[in-house]
Amino acid sequence: MTTVDAESLREQVRERYAAAARAVDDGKDGGCGCGGGSCCEGPGEEVAGEELYGAEQLRELPEAAVLASLGCGNPTAVAELREGETVLDLGSGGGIDVLLAAKRVGPTGRAFGLDMTEEMLALALRNAAEAGVGNAIFLKGEMEAIPLPAGSVDVIVSNCVLNLSTDKPAVFAELARVLRPGGRIGISDIVAEDRLSAEDRAERGSFVGCIAGALSKGEYETALEAAGFEDVGVEFTHEVLDGMHGAIVKAVKPAATREPESAE
Ligand SMILES: C[S@@+](CC[C@H](N)C(=O)[O-])C[C@H]1O[C@@H](n2cnc3c(N)ncnc32)[C@H](O)[C@@H]1O
Repeated sequence: MTTVDAESLREQVRERYAAAARAVDDGKDGGCGCGGGSCCEGPGEEVAGEELYGAEQLRELPEAAVLASLGCGNPTAVAELREGETVLDLGSGGGIDVLLAAKRVGPTGRAFGLDMTEEMLALALRNAAEAGVGNAIFLKGEMEAIPLPAGSVDVIVSNCVLNLSTDKPAVFAELARVLRPGGRIGISDIVAEDRLSAEDRAERGSFVGCIAGALSKGEYETALEAAGFEDVGVEFTHEVLDGMHGAIVKAVKPAATREPESAE
């Protein structure tokens, strides 16, 4: 992909999700998600909201945060968050997973949400204020160049976003950089079966619709291992289109190893 093509695709992604945020402002749902039609594509509305999060979790959240949910999984459940941890959500959208993470890690922990779309960040900030969550911090930026220091995060989550990157190797390198040694990722994403070529994926749906840019299971595993992760797992959870699945992606950054002391 040329730099111009990548920039133009990224702009299309930004415009699409800015429109989704404006729709929520108008009292509609984001009109998409991996079960809807106009953003992340899929066959229908059945795998959304309550099915992904459960009624109890949704009750903890402002209505606008739930309406703005565009994900394809429940990454905060996958990541088994613990009190006091620092969590980063890539492509945080209206903030649903950041708010859930902030509640899980409690007042001694922090939940960062990173998004490149101004309209989504504004929506997330309003949702955090309405939810009364004080330990959620929203950052403007791109997941290919995360504006956080190296080794500063315990857990990275993300919900239906990595497929939208035009430079996935940069994202995997950034995951490895910002996680502390021993830190982990728990990501929900759309993932293709290995039998589907890039052309097969593009035939099934658009890039902004979370389909054409999806990695295959094998590509995901190889990319995470190349970035230095261990205990890599990519598990399909539900089929969204022929050969394309909602999936849970887990991996761990190796813990720091101490150099053996010299025998002097
Ligand atoms: C499908 S929505 C998912 C939003 C949220 N994770 C959820 O579950 O509701 C994708 C989000 O990722 C953001 N995004 C897409 N590409 C990005 C990038 N390269 N860097 C940061 N954010 C990005 C979009 O602005 C949008 O808010």
